[in-house]
Amino acid sequence: MTKLRQGEPWQTADIYGRSLRGLSLNLIVRSVQASLPFYEQTLTLRRLYSDEDFAAFAGHGLRLMLHADHTCGRMPSGRGLAADGPRGLGVEIRLLGLNPDDAAASADRCGGEVVLPPTVFVHGWRECHLRDRDGYLFVVGEATQELPRTGNGVRLRELRQDDADIVLAQLDDWWGGRQMTPRLPRLFFEYFSDASFAAEDGESGRLLGFLCGVFATGDSERAYIHFVGVDPSARGRGIGRLLYEAFFAAARAAGRTSATAITSPVNTGSVAFHRAMGFTVVPGDSVEMGIPVHTGREGPGTRHVVFRRTL
Ligand SMILES: CC(C)(COP(=O)(O)OP(=O)(O)OC[C@H]1O[C@@H](n2cnc3c(N)ncnc32)[C@H](O)[C@@H]1OP(=O)(O)O)[C@@H](O)C(=O)NCCC(=O)NCCS
Repeated sequence: MTKLRQGEPWQTADIYGRSLRGLSLNLIVRSVQASLPFYEQTLTLRRLYSDEDFAAFAGHGLRLMLHADHTCGRMPSGRGLAADGPRGLGVEIRLLGLNPDDAAASADRCGGEVVLPPTVFVHGWRECHLRDRDGYLFVVGEATQELPRTGNGVRLRELRQDDADIVLAQLDDWWGGRQMTPRLPRLFFEYFSDASFAAEDGESGRLLGFLCGVFATGDSERAYIHFVGVDPSARGRGIGRLLYEAFFAAARAAGRTSATAITSPVNTGSVAFHRAMGFTVVPGDSVEMGIPVHTGREGPGTRHVVFRRTL
């Protein structure tokens, strides 16, 4: 192992080595000095120490070390490193809790490369993808309630109070003439916007669908979809799926691990839709039209199919 450092390091290797806990990252770089700005300024890691051979950083729950190529010749990790090829192929190092706009702007100045500009993903992160000067790939971002843009001319957004008039005026028609409005009080449009979404036409802004959901307050793991509806003229275009996926993403970002929904056994379209969305039917106390149902769950004489899925 070759060393360029003159004099003694900040502490001996064994003392530092024994201070590490759990997962830490060792990256082999061509030049420690040239790499410092990216790690300190772009990734905002705290530099504990650096010299020509080695640098140690901490931050965002991570302990990260850079070792220069010349120090690693005899280690398995150093063998076969091409002098000019990219490093770390196939590995994504993810850091949650950094503003992706700041990180992307800084990467340009600090010797990094923006591979993907800040983008919202369905997994609940707004993130950018950056490579350091050796090719190591970092995905940095923040948890977000924002929703990904969709490709089929439909725009998703949070459900608003003023959507109530539009939805309630058409609700019974959308349910094939069944009287549904008493089951959808206006409060669902006013108090649960973190778990409720609207789908609108990307050009005209016409409301095409809605989802009213809630995150349980007494149980931090559960989420519930109370109502979902799509304009009959827009069905079969994936809008129901988009609304559900938006809800799943928001629920996961809020730490929820399971989702529940119910429907009437006569609503065979809804049963098929929920199965297509990955729900399973929860065993009930009776069977109707071949499907387990729960009697009396929503009041005397009621019969409902209960669905559940993990998130
Ligand atoms: C149920 C409803 C929301 C589905 O909306 P949609 O936009 O037409 O559904 P999508 O196009 O996103 O379909 C998603 C999946 O469900 C399946 N699906 C939807 N409706 C279906 C039906 N009637 N029969 C069989 N499968 C159906 C689709 O085939 C699709 O499966 P895939 O993605 O694996 O191909 C819509 O039909 C509706 O508003 N119905 C009336 C209201 C209602 O019953 N709401 C549910 C109870 S609250």
